[in-house]
Amino acid sequence: METVVRVEGKRSVQVLSDLEGISQEAASLFVNASRDSVAIRRRFVVAISGGSTPRRLYTLLSTAPYRDQIDWRNVYFFWADERCVPKGNEESNFKTAFDKLLSKVPIPDGNIHRIKGEEEPEKAARAYEEDIKKFFGMSGLPVFDLVILGMGEDGHMASLFPGSKSLEETDRLAVPVYLDKPNWNRITLTLPVLNNAAQILFLVAGSSKAAVLSEILGDGEKKRQFPAGLISPIKGNMTWLINQEAAGKRIG
Ligand code: 6PG
Repeated sequence: METVVRVEGKRSVQVLSDLEGISQEAASLFVNASRDSVAIRRRFVVAISGGSTPRRLYTLLSTAPYRDQIDWRNVYFFWADERCVPKGNEESNFKTAFDKLLSKVPIPDGNIHRIKGEEEPEKAARAYEEDIKKFFGMSGLPVFDLVILGMGEDGHMASLFPGSKSLEETDRLAVPVYLDKPNWNRITLTLPVLNNAAQILFLVAGSSKAAVLSEILGDGEKKRQFPAGLISPIKGNMTWLINQEAAGKRIG
C-alpha cells in the first residue's frame, strides 16, 4: 500500500513498502506515460538507467498485464548512461535491459538506441550525441518523455558522480566519464539533458541510501552537493518512488 508522502508542485514522493511495490508503481507510471505520449506525439521516448533497482521493473514491463498495455512499435529506448564495456558484458546497462525486457517485447530493433560502450569513450559519447540529435531533429536540447534514474549511496545518478567535472557540462548532450579502476569508464547524459525531460522517475530502495536521500528530499542546501539533488526538471515533473528503508525516519 503506497503512501503519498509529499506533492510539491512538480515533485512527488511516494513511499512504497518494498522494491516490488516500487516496481509495480513504476510499471503503471510507465504504461500511463506511454499511452499519453503516443496519443499526443505518436511516440514515447525514454532514457533508462542501469544498476539493480530497475531490473524488476524491466521484468514487469515484459510480462502481462503491463506488456500488453504498451504500444511497443512507438516506444524508443535510449540510456541515461552506459558502462564502457561490450554489449554482451554482464555490466552492460544495455544487456540488463535487453535480457529482461527488450528481447521479450515486440519493439523494432531500430527503436533501440544503444550507447556503444565497446568503443573508445569520447568516440562513443560523440556518436551517441549525433544519434540523439538525428533522432530528435533538433539543435537545442532533446525532450525525453520519461527518464528513469536510480541513485547511488553517494547521491550519484546516471554516471554523474559527486565532484565530477561532467556535472558542469552545459553544452554537450553526452560525455565520457573516466573512473579509476576497478570501475569502468562510462558515457552519461548531461544535467541539461536530464533536466529537460518531460518526466523524471527516480527509483530508490535500501537503507544505505536513506541519509543522502533525506538531504536530497529535504529543504536544506546540502542537497546540491549530490548529483541527484541537482535534478530539477525545467518544465517537466519528477516522481520519487522509494521504499520504507530508503525513506528512513525523516521522510516516511
Ligand atoms: C549505473 C546506473 C547508476 C545507478 C545507481 C544506483 O549505470 O550503474 O545508471 O546511476 O542508477 O548506481 O544503482 P542501484 O540501482 O544498483 O542501487
